[in-house]
Amino acid sequence: QGTMSINQQGQLEIAGHSLIKIAKEYGSPLYILDEAEIRNNCRAYREAFEKWYPNSMTLYASKAFLSLAMARIIDQEGLGLDVVSGGELYTALKADFPADKIYFHGNNKTKAEIEMALDAKINAFVVDNRYELDMLNRMAGEKGIVADILLRVTPGIEAHTHSYIQTGQTDSKFGLGIQNGLALAAIKEAVNLENVNLKGIHCHIGSQIFKLESFAKAVDVMLEFVEEVKEEAGVILEELNLGGGIGIPYTEAEEKPDIEEYAKIVAGSIKAKCKELEIPLPKVINEPGRSIIATAGSTLYTVGSIKEIPGIRKYVAVNGGMTDNIRPALYEAKYEAILVNKADQAGEEVVTITGKCCESGDILIRDIKLPKAESGDLLLISCTGAYGYSMSSNYNALTRPGVLLVSEDSIDWVVKPQSYDDLIANDVIPERLK
Ligand code: LLP
Repeated sequence: QGTMSINQQGQLEIAGHSLIKIAKEYGSPLYILDEAEIRNNCRAYREAFEKWYPNSMTLYASKAFLSLAMARIIDQEGLGLDVVSGGELYTALKADFPADKIYFHGNNKTKAEIEMALDAKINAFVVDNRYELDMLNRMAGEKGIVADILLRVTPGIEAHTHSYIQTGQTDSKFGLGIQNGLALAAIKEAVNLENVNLKGIHCHIGSQIFKLESFAKAVDVMLEFVEEVKEEAGVILEELNLGGGIGIPYTEAEEKPDIEEYAKIVAGSIKAKCKELEIPLPKVINEPGRSIIATAGSTLYTVGSIKEIPGIRKYVAVNGGMTDNIRPALYEAKYEAILVNKADQAGEEVVTITGKCCESGDILIRDIKLPKAESGDLLLISCTGAYGYSMSSNYNALTRPGVLLVSEDSIDWVVKPQSYDDLIANDVIPERLK
């Protein structure tokens, strides 16, 4: 994965730095990000779309992982940013991310968030519903500006992925349906509003999608809708945002979808469909999160207690768990791991890796074959860069691990580890309880 390799002494390295040394110096648990891998993934998107569909823009979906430094890297790599909350927008702006490359998503944006985004002069709002449309129009009007918008629609496509991360079907909390007419009704309203400018439409059919034809299907439905809008509302929608969602292999059993293949399929279906429908080629936006950052991240833990239940199972516990990676508990997500200090040894026993939270579901990996684990060993779980830190919690008052950015030349904290004082920083003891 990324620039991970085993050196001549049999030690696991990231970008040429020994993980054993990193653990000694920076402690564990720890998220490690491989900078070269992040940049390579960004470039893969940029170059693939430059080649197959130049009138396009790739936005990084912040929800997968955002920090001030990550926003800088995304800016340096020439990508835009998709944010879904005031907090993500705030982080981007604090990192001097250009506001005109920020798109604002979300199915329940608050007045305060809309105000912040209008004041920052972001590129566009991806409007989810009529309530937001009216509120945005009113608020933009009060400021004497016209806000660019895309309307989020559901194309009625059920992508083959976990139901919790499916989003394209009509019964979804996101967007307005094409098939049931809600999307068209909202568009007819939008074109009559004075303070919004409808640039296009957006859909996101789901996450962790391996079948690239699902995106081609989405393109067809979306462009047929563009044609319908042209006929029914007399507007040409110029921007087509196809969301994110390309899957990544969390385990060796899964294949990696090819980013260039994705761009080629998307470009091919757009060109063919536009020709068939006799509509102009739109500007295309895509917004990958996972496929930019997942493979760039790993989590380093130390093994603590080891418990064998004779004839049943051996539990190997690490010093983190569902607090730093909720995905196995939430989606039964699968991961692979390696014992860092035994990287050159063959697997000899099947164990279950658990965390340290007070929850039976706090299992990180069920049934993995590893060299014989001992307390004090270092365990690395790979592919944790997306939705790991960003979905982390302080359950059981565990502190959040820090995030270390590693490149050939340097190792830097991009998020410092939380301290116990951070945990109680917002606590207050009212006078009467003292
Ligand atoms: N755009 C929109 C509108 C989205 O809703 C999402 C993900 C993305 C882009 C980025 O999708 P990606 O390229 O990362 O698949 N927490 C879950 C994933 C939920 C994703 C929600 N939306 C997980 O850990 O798998």
